[in-house]
Amino acid sequence: MGGSSQGLINLLRGWPNPDLLPVAQIKAAAASALSHPDVSTSGLLYGPDPGYEPLRQQLAKWLTSFYQPSQPIGPERICISGGASQDLACILQVFSDPVYTRHVWMVSPTYFMACRIFEDSGFYGRLRSVPEDNEGIDIEFLVRELQKAEKEAKLKGNNEPIYRHLVYAVPTFSNPSSMTMSLRRRQQLVSVARQYDALVITDDVYDQLQWQRDSASTRPHDTEAAMPRIVDVDRTLDGGSEREGADGFGNAVSNGSFSKIVGPGVRTGWAEGTKKFAYELSQW
Ligand SMILES: Cc1ncc(COP(=O)(O)O)c(C=O)c1O
Repeated sequence: MGGSSQGLINLLRGWPNPDLLPVAQIKAAAASALSHPDVSTSGLLYGPDPGYEPLRQQLAKWLTSFYQPSQPIGPERICISGGASQDLACILQVFSDPVYTRHVWMVSPTYFMACRIFEDSGFYGRLRSVPEDNEGIDIEFLVRELQKAEKEAKLKGNNEPIYRHLVYAVPTFSNPSSMTMSLRRRQQLVSVARQYDALVITDDVYDQLQWQRDSASTRPHDTEAAMPRIVDVDRTLDGGSEREGADGFGNAVSNGSFSKIVGPGVRTGWAEGTKKFAYELSQW
């Protein structure tokens, strides 16, 4: 950060650049959707719980082509929500219980809003920070602290069968550190989560915001992910959630977001590349 107030960038929020908000495209998309009764009627009624099926199908295709996992991502694995923050609260409501779930382990520094969401979901006073090194989350520290927490919980007779721990991370282009967790560390984290009955919740909201290093390239961004999501690592590592002895639920869940790709926040010098990116997205 520079010394003068003019040079300061507020990294606390991923604030979109107003010049890049795609007002015209969203207006056109809404008008088009509302003029087709099969879309508008089901869209304005109470829809299916996991979300509008054709949208889930399109998202499944897009995510498969972006992440290139060994098995295609099916629409049955996707739920439409009001964004990553809202979905974090939904995940906590379904998969955690503040009475039994011991702690929320958060890679530090963390996205500030996530703390409030965990606290509002009953975890006030139970957030724990986990440092990161140059490969990502510090696994040795995490295991040491998990062991201590398990000892304490057992002394209190807390043995309920729900996820005992939550781990929160932004593994790719993290907000605010900008770090990307290595593949090896993602695999280690999944193994530890399985061992300690933890659910790893990742905000994979910045994965698409990557730019070509080659300035001569005509495409401002890469069309394939830099790294597999932790949820996809969990699907495949040592037989995934269907491996012998596992309960089939898995130990990771991914939060995506449209806000970072529909209204990206940029410094002035990046505006041209991002405009191109927004334009290309509108063509998909
Ligand atoms: C890590 C992280 N997760 C989630 C969000 C918010 O996503 P959404 O707008 O989809 O709720 C942000 C926005 O800054 C973020 O940085």
